[in-house]
Amino acid sequence: MRAITAFSAGVALWLCAAGTGVSSGTLNVLCATDEAWCEAMKSAFETRSGIAVTMVRKSTGEILDQIRAQNAEPSVDVWWGGTGDSHLQAVSEGLLAAYQSPNEADVLPWAQNFFAMSGGYSAGIYAGALGFAYNSDLLRQHKKPAPTCWKDLISEAYRHQIKIANPNSSGTAYTALATLVQLFGEDEAFRYLTQLNRNVSEYTSSGSAPVKAAARGATLIGISFLHDAVTQKEAGFPLVIVAPCEGTGYEIGAVSIVRGAQHPKEARVFVDFALSPEGQATGAAAGQNQVPSNAKAHLPVAAPDISMIKMVDYDFATYGSPNERSRLLKRFDSEILASR
Ligand code: G6P
Repeated sequence: MRAITAFSAGVALWLCAAGTGVSSGTLNVLCATDEAWCEAMKSAFETRSGIAVTMVRKSTGEILDQIRAQNAEPSVDVWWGGTGDSHLQAVSEGLLAAYQSPNEADVLPWAQNFFAMSGGYSAGIYAGALGFAYNSDLLRQHKKPAPTCWKDLISEAYRHQIKIANPNSSGTAYTALATLVQLFGEDEAFRYLTQLNRNVSEYTSSGSAPVKAAARGATLIGISFLHDAVTQKEAGFPLVIVAPCEGTGYEIGAVSIVRGAQHPKEARVFVDFALSPEGQATGAAAGQNQVPSNAKAHLPVAAPDISMIKMVDYDFATYGSPNERSRLLKRFDSEILASR
């Protein structure tokens, strides 16, 4: 707490320096983190800055679609949260405005690299690894084997027992698709997804819905980010969380200002706050468990230790490029979704 209080004086200074202590309009933010964090961030930012915010939660792919559709006349000022490779795609499509926050100086190397990779258009705010979780009560009741690897999930034992999101709408599920391609090679990944498809009861639109369903016993297994599973487990649900044995991929969650935003000054103040230890503490306060990007921010107590997880060397540049993303999604639609 002391670190946050000490930093608050600094925050007040940069808010004044930006000259936006009093807002001339409502800042429109699209939020791709968990609903609870969207709410907590809105209220903390409004209190700190005096700037009114309209905050709407959508999944990452849905936000990209909206920003693209409104390109000529954007109603959105800031895109906060969601997987970074979709932000990078927006950069490539010329949909974002460049901004370097003074707080960029305090971010960890992985977030510095992400900012550089975006060409100064998008900033890394958190990181988290992908995996899955199963409901231990259901597993015991139905006498199922405990899965520990990606390849276990294609076993007949889990027929219609798995949920994962649709990669067209969900950044989580797109991360899963890109991770499997990087782990197994593209053709092998699609053979795997064809087999997994038989066990998938539903492709949800939001990325955390699968582990929320597993937590409540609505499915045996949910594939999502591990920190989303931790949040459910912390809430008391009977989940076992698995970092798959073959290795896994991860996200860098990002914040970006939309090109042509109607409130560019306020948008910059928001990005500054999102990168500050105070802004990043709103995640833990809302029960979230990602790793914050600011080196001075506190790590949530239950956050998975991503340094202990076997990780692919995730290629954000390739999988965040419009051509590769569209090509993989098209192949997913025609080979996996069309066969349902
Ligand atoms: C959850 C996670 C975030 C992630 C987001 C992506 O909210 O906690 O870390 O960035 O999902 O959402 P999506 O619905 O696009 O998969």
